[in-house]
Amino acid sequence: MLEHIKQRRYLIPFKAARLPQQFADVLVIGGGVAGLRAAIAAADDGADVLLLAKDTINQSNTWYAQGGIAAVLQPADSYESHVADTEKGGAGLCDHEAVEVVIKEGPQRVLELLEWGANFDKDPAKALGLAFTLEGGHSFARILHAYGDATGKELAQTLIRAVRGRESIRVSENTFVIDLITDENRCVGALALINDQVHLIWARQTILASGGAGQLYRESTNPKIATADGHAMAYRAGATLQDMEMVQFHPTTLYIAGSSRALITEAVRGEGAYLLDRNGKRFMPDYHPMAELAPRDVVSRSIVEQIRKTHFTHVYLDVRHLEPTHFRERFPQLAMLTDEFGIDITHDLIPVQPAAHYMIGGVDADLNGQSSFAGLYAVGEAGCSGLHGANRLGSNSLLEGLAFGARAGVHAARAVKQETIKFPQNLEHKVNPSVRTELDLSDIKSSLRSLMWRNVGIERTGDRLAETVEIVDFWSRYVMDKSFDPSQSREAAIAGWELQNMLTVCSLITAAARMRSESRGAHYRLDHPDRDDAHWRLHLLWRRSAADPIREPIRD
Ligand code: FUM
Repeated sequence: MLEHIKQRRYLIPFKAARLPQQFADVLVIGGGVAGLRAAIAAADDGADVLLLAKDTINQSNTWYAQGGIAAVLQPADSYESHVADTEKGGAGLCDHEAVEVVIKEGPQRVLELLEWGANFDKDPAKALGLAFTLEGGHSFARILHAYGDATGKELAQTLIRAVRGRESIRVSENTFVIDLITDENRCVGALALINDQVHLIWARQTILASGGAGQLYRESTNPKIATADGHAMAYRAGATLQDMEMVQFHPTTLYIAGSSRALITEAVRGEGAYLLDRNGKRFMPDYHPMAELAPRDVVSRSIVEQIRKTHFTHVYLDVRHLEPTHFRERFPQLAMLTDEFGIDITHDLIPVQPAAHYMIGGVDADLNGQSSFAGLYAVGEAGCSGLHGANRLGSNSLLEGLAFGARAGVHAARAVKQETIKFPQNLEHKVNPSVRTELDLSDIKSSLRSLMWRNVGIERTGDRLAETVEIVDFWSRYVMDKSFDPSQSREAAIAGWELQNMLTVCSLITAAARMRSESRGAHYRLDHPDRDDAHWRLHLLWRRSAADPIREPIRD
């Protein structure tokens, strides 16, 4: 299994002594909420921190998050209720301690953001004078938001200000991390392309916060950079990946042929929007008692089913009955988007369809965000703490990024003081030249994304997954054996490495989805439509050195 994927340890040949070198106590890979919060925590605990961002620091899934951040901050709400909602959504796969940590510590992390100047929307009648809304799967209106539907941007800007205000944090933007460096079974830093040159960054502790994988799918809410690089490099380095079959699809992205798929926040349904089919029928009550506010997997699948039943390409969001001035104030980004496409929200319906949104699976991480591989932490979408189980509740991920980012940063900074690490200056790696044909990489990339959408998307079957394994394996044979040289073309090298990462993670997602012969949370098998707790209430763990995946019981 995964033969061509497993053959690669590093994507490039190198000799450590010949590369420009940098040093950091704590290296943070990624500039979303988890990476930023981890960098702040590590710096405040005395570490010298280097943060690498793949693009400019404002390109992250965090920046584009609209709906909000869930937190228990009102007297009538309770931790128990938020825990219960999260675990119900997680469909039996949540790790209870991780849920408790995030839900109990998250509110402090949110209050801290307020101290750092975050401007959440206000409601003088509510606790702390803040406005709260409802989202799918939450039994209480506990979602904070900012500038209506620009919560992620406000959160990111607040954290970026805090990062920029700390002298012990250096930030390197437009930096493509190629691989984690390992020596004697521990992570000692990373190889990264800075400008046009490969640099070797030695780090005493490394925190992987490299974000998601939405670009593995043709339809995605994620920015272009979300190509699962962190998941792939961690796998190559020897870390353990968990729950890779669990990919969350968001029910509503704007469906206009030729335009990119813009997310339409679930909070729109929280404020009362309906889903209608092409015949104007409100269909969600037929599928679930919570109708439009059912958990995301249910809404996404119901939309797919209704599209099939009505022989159409999409469904519609209906906001015509909502008060337009309030709507425009509450969702200014969406109002701008609909204006741009000439959709008059008082008369017209908004065309929508689901898209890949959030990678639930990731590098197996404990309650400090520490992976099972020494020297390596994984937080945010790159990690898998067990908070989300088989299905993430909306607005829980920013909370997770804050809670586990802070924990990982503190823990890593303390580990720096406790451990003595030698950096192996003689480290080198050779890659044999490929003897196989070069295929057209951009063709493979777009075919791969379409294949994943069709066969490893919202609905899956054993036959289609088996076929996908074969096709991805075929492409991998011709792509995974290549070495891309940035000195010839930076863009071509990055495109090549990204495709190698995408093939790696697509292989893992497909293999895991094929193996899990049941339906649970975000993973839905048409040929095994029922949840099977007797056989499948477990995590599937993937490690490059292991012949087969390991089955691990849930930490209740
Ligand atoms: O619908 C949304 O605004 C998405 C929120 C989330 O993914 O947490």
